[in-house]
Amino acid sequence: MRTMARQHSRPRWHYSPLQTWMNDPNGLIHYAGTWHLFYQSNPSDDRWGNMSWGHATSPDLLTWTEHHVALWHTDSEEIFSGSCVFDATNSSDLGTADWPPLVAIYTANYRPGSERHGTQAQCLAYSLDGGSHWTNYSGNPVLDRGSANFRDPKVFRHGDAWVMVAVEAENQQVVIYRSTNLVDWTYCSTFGPAHAAAGVWECPDLFELPVAGHDETRWVLLVNVNPGGVAGGSGCQYFVGDFDGHTFTPDRVIATSTDRDLGLDDPLLRSYDWFDYGRDCYAVVSFADAPGGRRIVLGWMNNWDYAADVPLTGGRSIMTIPRELDLVLLDDGYRVRQRPVRELPVDALQHHALAAGDRVVINGVALEYHNGVLSLDRRGVGMNDFHEAFGSRQWAEVPGEPETVHVDVLVDTCSIEVFAAGGLVTISDLVFF
Ligand code: FRU
Repeated sequence: MRTMARQHSRPRWHYSPLQTWMNDPNGLIHYAGTWHLFYQSNPSDDRWGNMSWGHATSPDLLTWTEHHVALWHTDSEEIFSGSCVFDATNSSDLGTADWPPLVAIYTANYRPGSERHGTQAQCLAYSLDGGSHWTNYSGNPVLDRGSANFRDPKVFRHGDAWVMVAVEAENQQVVIYRSTNLVDWTYCSTFGPAHAAAGVWECPDLFELPVAGHDETRWVLLVNVNPGGVAGGSGCQYFVGDFDGHTFTPDRVIATSTDRDLGLDDPLLRSYDWFDYGRDCYAVVSFADAPGGRRIVLGWMNNWDYAADVPLTGGRSIMTIPRELDLVLLDDGYRVRQRPVRELPVDALQHHALAAGDRVVINGVALEYHNGVLSLDRRGVGMNDFHEAFGSRQWAEVPGEPETVHVDVLVDTCSIEVFAAGGLVTISDLVFF
């Protein structure tokens, strides 16, 4: 166990493993006063492979302690992405009524050593010591469709049952299941393909959010897509709608695009709801059981276009700053609003007010507001020639095209995150200053 914050040249505010490869956040949960972050880890290299769950904990979402690997790959399976729940009523019978378990629901990616090689299925592991040590459930897998691309289960409590959203990645579909005990699952419905569907769909999440200033909630379905994101490569889109416990019904359905060559300025691509307009915000998922009903998410701050090549030594790479979400009702529908968690000291953020035509340069990166469009340009800044796709300019329309747009900017040792118009627009980029 080593404390992560305040080490020289390491990110000040962002989680990054000390030595190993990291991709998606997994199993995010607040339990017994501690925030748990599990993540896709290669325990023996700073490149993708041997996928396992790394583990870090934090008292405040900002200062992280890295622990030993929580779930190890074996000769027959890799541990792909998934989620964690606290099974308070011991519905799974994996603990006892007096000592209920934490349960991880993850995807087994079967290796050649397995008779299931070539398929992916959902499995359980449980911990009776608050997330430190894990035991695989003896009846694994608990949900197998015989599919090669069935993965990334996110499980949450709904009434007196559990709901799982997962993907059929290559079919651009979110599949929904229900269970009373986390072991036996019943199929409910399928959503998609819809909107951005040029790449695989991965790491879905489904949760209810309050609408600011209204006595109302709506459901939000996050769907990560790669490639085919709004800034190129990996991106996160979302749908706002209703969920009755079995079926998700979006408020707004427009034409689906499966076109891999759609330009990044294409009006159809731009008409979808995007969680973030930067290059580096993927596999966004939320914490279970955040106190006070808060909905807090983390994304992997990277992009599969160049993730293997980013010039980080030691841990590769970083997570976004944790963000708290709600919804805002605009003229044309609901929009997700994001703020850095309130645990982040306000003076960590730079504030800028940009009138039309204004441009500010932040550590070499140009932030510009022009014709209602906010753009972030990292071309030519710092180390950027390690991959041809890295030098890029990202942009987003600001809702309502205000005369002046207010932005909060979080700069860390290798990243910049822009929260504009109160968090209605975010642009997140790696920058190797
Ligand atoms: C998303 C993803 C997931 C998968 C994991 C494997 O980045 O491809 O779909 O579970 O990474 O590391």
